[in-house]
Order: sequence, then C-alpha cells, then structure tokens
Amino acid sequence: MLDKNKVDSFFKRRAKITDPELATHYKKDDTIYFDLNLIEEYIADDSVVLDLGCGPGRMTNKLEQKVSYIKAVDNQAEFLSHCINSSKVEKVVSNIVDFQDSNKYDVILLFGVLNYFNDDEVEVIYANCKKMLKEDGVLIVKHACGEVENVIIDKFSEQINDWYHVLYRHIDQDRLLLSQAGFSFSMVDVYPPRLNPWSNTHYYAFIAKKG
Ligand SMILES: C[S@@+](CC[C@H](N)C(=O)[O-])C[C@H]1O[C@@H](n2cnc3c(N)ncnc32)[C@H](O)[C@@H]1O
Repeated sequence: MLDKNKVDSFFKRRAKITDPELATHYKKDDTIYFDLNLIEEYIADDSVVLDLGCGPGRMTNKLEQKVSYIKAVDNQAEFLSHCINSSKVEKVVSNIVDFQDSNKYDVILLFGVLNYFNDDEVEVIYANCKKMLKEDGVLIVKHACGEVENVIIDKFSEQINDWYHVLYRHIDQDRLLLSQAGFSFSMVDVYPPRLNPWSNTHYYAFIAKKG
C-alpha cells in the first residue's frame, strides 16, 4: 500500500519546481513525443478532453491547439499555473478521486498518474471516468507497470533528489482493475527499449472503451 501522506507531500514539494519538465517527469527525454503520437490517434479538432492529474500541463499545453476543449485537473494549484491560459482550457484544482462533472468527454487522459494511487482509489477514479466518458469515448491510461509483481519504491532517489514513493502496479492487476470497472481495452507498448531501462518495470498505455 502507498502511504498517501508521502505522495501528497512529495507533489507539494515538486509543485515549487519551476521547470515543468523536471517537476513531474523528473528528467529530460523524448517520451512526450511518443505520448502525443499515441493521443493524436484518438483526438480531432472538435474533441472534448479531460486531463486528470495534468501536472504543469505537459500534455494539455501541447494538445490545446489540436482539440476544442480541455479540462485540466490536478490537486496542486501551483502546477495548474503552468497550464496554458486559453479559452479552450479550464483548470480545476481537485483531488481526482473526488472529481466528477456533468460533461461527457471524447478522451480522458491518466498519464503517469495511477502509480500514486492505491487500488481502492483507482476503482473510484475508473468508475468516475466511465460516467464522464461518451459512449464512444476513449480512456487512455499510461504508466510504468510491474512486470512480475507490484514494485513499490520508498527511498531517496539521486535522480529526483528527493524521497520517492511510487507503486508500479503488477500488469495483471492493472488489467484486472480496468476489466472490473467495465472497460474493454488494448495495450500499447508505447516506448522503444531505450525508454524502458528497468528490468522489472515497463511502460504501457491502455486504450480503454466502455463495454
Ligand atoms: C507524474 S505527474 C504526471 C503529470 C502529467 N500527467 C504528465 O504526464 O506529465 C503526476 C501528477 O498527479 C498529480 N496528483 C497526484 N495525486 C493527485 C490527486 N490525489 N489528485 C489530483 N492530482 C494528483 C500530481 O500533482 C502530478 O501532477
């Protein structure tokens, strides 16, 4: 189980970091281009998008020109200040476990987010996503998964220069949580091997639809 106090205090500290890339991605690399290529398969000019756990807007800011509306949600208000000011972007400070609105979305994004939530919270988040997704909408979830078991990190990271606490959920459990929430899904091996450096974890994207 994750200690949520550690997770929340970590992101409070990260939100003080002025470089948005380092604040939530912790390093400089080109993963975002693979992320955007994937998302672009599912969006159009008139898409209505929900970016849950948007952070400083790495996705939101790149997608703003390509869709009609994005709601960017994060519980760290300081991250939202880095999201682009645009009539197409609405910023909401909220815990995503509690977040629900009456909009129906074409695309909901959970990128690098569910690693910081326990299973019971993921169940609530998925149930809410299902309610907010259009009948033909797509939920895209991307994060690193544990290859053979849950991998929990709880130690000082030299790279991040802070105490790091994260859950790389076993891939089978990721699949189970999506199925139990009533999604059908396919998996995408989203990055080339050079961006999957660890032997016990691997990044996947899940393309989930209702039913
Ligand atoms: C690793 S960052 C990913 C940011 C962004 N999705 C991306 O791909 O660049 C995880 C984000 O989840 C947010 N987060 C963590 N717990 C949250 C919560 N309970 N409610 C809302 N956002 C949360 C953090 O503030 C952070 O912005």
